[in-house]
Amino acid sequence: MRILVTGGAGFIGSALIRHIISNTSDDVLNIDKLSYAGNLDSLTPIASSERYSFQKLDICDSDSIKKAINVFQPDTIMHLAAESHVDRSIDGPADFIQTNIIGTYTLLEAAREYWNTLSEPRKTSFRFHHISTDEVFGDLHGSDDLFTESTPYAPSSPYSASKASSDHLVRAWQRTYGLPTIVSNCSNNYGPYHFPEKLIPLVIINALKGQPLPVYGEGKQIRDWLYVEDHARALYTVATKGKVSATYNIGGHNEKSNIEVVELICSLLEELAPNKPKGLSMYRDLISFVEDRPGHDLRYAIDASKIKEELNWMPEETFETGLRKTVEWYLENHQWWQSILDSSYQIERMGKGSQ
Ligand code: NAD
Ligand code: DAU
Repeated sequence: MRILVTGGAGFIGSALIRHIISNTSDDVLNIDKLSYAGNLDSLTPIASSERYSFQKLDICDSDSIKKAINVFQPDTIMHLAAESHVDRSIDGPADFIQTNIIGTYTLLEAAREYWNTLSEPRKTSFRFHHISTDEVFGDLHGSDDLFTESTPYAPSSPYSASKASSDHLVRAWQRTYGLPTIVSNCSNNYGPYHFPEKLIPLVIINALKGQPLPVYGEGKQIRDWLYVEDHARALYTVATKGKVSATYNIGGHNEKSNIEVVELICSLLEELAPNKPKGLSMYRDLISFVEDRPGHDLRYAIDASKIKEELNWMPEETFETGLRKTVEWYLENHQWWQSILDSSYQIERMGKGSQ
């Protein structure tokens, strides 16, 4: 297969491409504009493969995207490019509207034009897989409720509203134009190559530097964590075996409150990085409760039974095994995250609100 991946220099996109190149014989074209979140270093393990290529392009640039699609002739487009950080969407929603909504629209139109040129059997087997989030469902308040594929949309933040809009566009292009689309909605990912401003890498790195570990509000919000390599396997399964027009929820069956996550990381660091910054007795002493995120969603939890029953996908990592691997990876890969911290745009955001 020839797979065009958008956003392949990001956290999940790079895990997906590493998975495809290492475990299949497919060709991949990675299209990414290399925003602050895009990092080609995350693709070093597979960058020399003849089956991998990269083009620096903005998905909002219609002419260039159409040209790239026509030259590459994909069998499948997997669309991950997005602005993805909720806090940034609160500080400045414009980029989120542009990339997540206008960018998805632009890509859909380019894909539709290309798909209309295909002849059978390629036309029927073509897939446009849109990668989305559980945040489109808003939050859960009961302790047993789960998001299913039919949970109504109720996004809370500019980020989740822009992703919800993009999901609606994708489904409309399927229903109106017949474009063979699939949508997947996933819970919080974690693992290697995670950008250092998201909770888990932020806490690991700040702890190693002896800096405050900012916990929003009382840290009672709950997220359902999935190891990124499990998500990459799920995405490839959905793209290759999923039913056209279907939605698949993907989750880790790992519900944890934020404070539990931060405390688990501190315990792992006690074991794996016992030589602490000078003057620090316990990593957990760095925990600092800070002002809450506006509109902060309380609880996310995914019912992933459909993807298990229809496509036989299950996560392989528990939170305990995945978090240990993640902490070990950050301890062994200082250079990857230190070069991100060394760029001036990032330094000002690390530990935002921690004073
Ligand atoms: P990320 O921010 O790490 O990566 C996004 C990538 O998209 C970056 O490489 C960036 O350069 C690229 N990009 C941004 N705007 C672009 C544009 N206009 N044109 C081309 N490329 C552009 O994000 P991520 O965490 O890897 O998330 C990937 C996708 O998965 C997103 O669509 C996100 O909504 C979704 N998702 C993320 C999670 C999560 O926990 N991180 C969970 C569920 C779904
Ligand atoms: O649920 C899927 C979503 O998960 C994806 O769609 C998003 O792209 C991804 O960024 C992630 O969103 P979150 O907002 O849940 O992730 P983040 O790592 O920013 O925050 C996780 C939780 O931790 C959230 O409840 C806010 C809290 N938090 C976050 C930061 C950065 C803190 O308490 N302190 C922090 O410094």
